[in-house]
Amino acid sequence: MKTTYLGLELRSPVIVSSSPYTSTAQTIEQCARHGAGAAVLKSIFEEQIIHQAAALEQHSDSAYGDAGLYLERYLGDDYKARFLQLIGEARAATDLPLIASINCVATGDAWIEYAEAMAEAGAAALELNIFFQPTDILEESREIERRYAEIVGKVASAVRVPVSVKLPMRLTNVCNLGNRLLGCGARGAVLYNRFFEPDVDIERIAFAEGSPYSEPSELRNLLRTAAIFTSVLPQLDLSVSTGVHDGAAVVKALLCGARTAQVCTAIHNEGFGIIRHMNEFVDRWAESHGFESLEEFRGRLNFRDDPSPVYQRVQYMRYFPSSEE
Ligand SMILES: Cc1cc2nc3c(=O)[nH]c(=O)nc-3n(C[C@H](O)[C@H](O)[C@H](O)COP(=O)(O)O)c2cc1C
Repeated sequence: MKTTYLGLELRSPVIVSSSPYTSTAQTIEQCARHGAGAAVLKSIFEEQIIHQAAALEQHSDSAYGDAGLYLERYLGDDYKARFLQLIGEARAATDLPLIASINCVATGDAWIEYAEAMAEAGAAALELNIFFQPTDILEESREIERRYAEIVGKVASAVRVPVSVKLPMRLTNVCNLGNRLLGCGARGAVLYNRFFEPDVDIERIAFAEGSPYSEPSELRNLLRTAAIFTSVLPQLDLSVSTGVHDGAAVVKALLCGARTAQVCTAIHNEGFGIIRHMNEFVDRWAESHGFESLEEFRGRLNFRDDPSPVYQRVQYMRYFPSSEE
């Protein structure tokens, strides 16, 4: 079933999120073959460039005062070139719309030039993946969000392709930030980025790796917010990511106003064939409810100033152990 997202005409609302499943031309070709609407390429990580450079500099003779900067630029160019090459190879292998993804950690202008290069190489849109982990008690959320807006504004004004922003789950008022990003030129938003969450190993008394993969129940973290977000910010195209494991989850995201639903863990669990199953489910569901196009049902559960407690009552007022209800 067709949809539009970031101004792009997509043959399906199921898109493959930035992950190892979009990191080679071969996997992107698999996404296309199984009916995905688009692929968000594995993010290029600014952090990685900085860390690689710092590690090399430590082991080098630092007679060169600016070794760090030099290495950063050198490694950065090499690392960036590989992403441009991936876009070129994927372009040659398939006509699937490609959304390049950049993980930004600094407000440096280096990204602007690079974002343009990705667009020129054939990316139809850009997804910016931004998160600053707060550790400073004096840093106000307003200041952190100002940095988001600064990055988005710089990139969006420099490139001709549409820009969406993949947002973190822990914001006090995601609609306020969305509105600010819209004002800075963003065309879409992704709710949410699911970060690598470390666990604690109580025997070693140390942080340990947690599973990077989601559970289906995590979708419920975002459905209500998606319904409110798409209602108060209809100008931003919404994509839902986290916990989309089957066709029913795609339908839920669309009913809450999303234009696309992104999948990653579902492919890890079931293989690329899950994309086709999801598409088939959406078609069957739409037909059984008498809908001929996605726009006929997208956003049916939007907030629209609905006084229903579903949207605004989030506490478990009626649910306590002795409740009969
Ligand atoms: C192994 C792995 C690598 C990922 N790499 C990226 C990445 O490079 N950039 C990004 O924005 N998200 C990345 N993600 C997050 C996914 O794109 C997605 O937002 C998240 O897994 C939630 O979706 P899911 O429930 O379908 O897995 C990654 C996730 C996994 C599991």
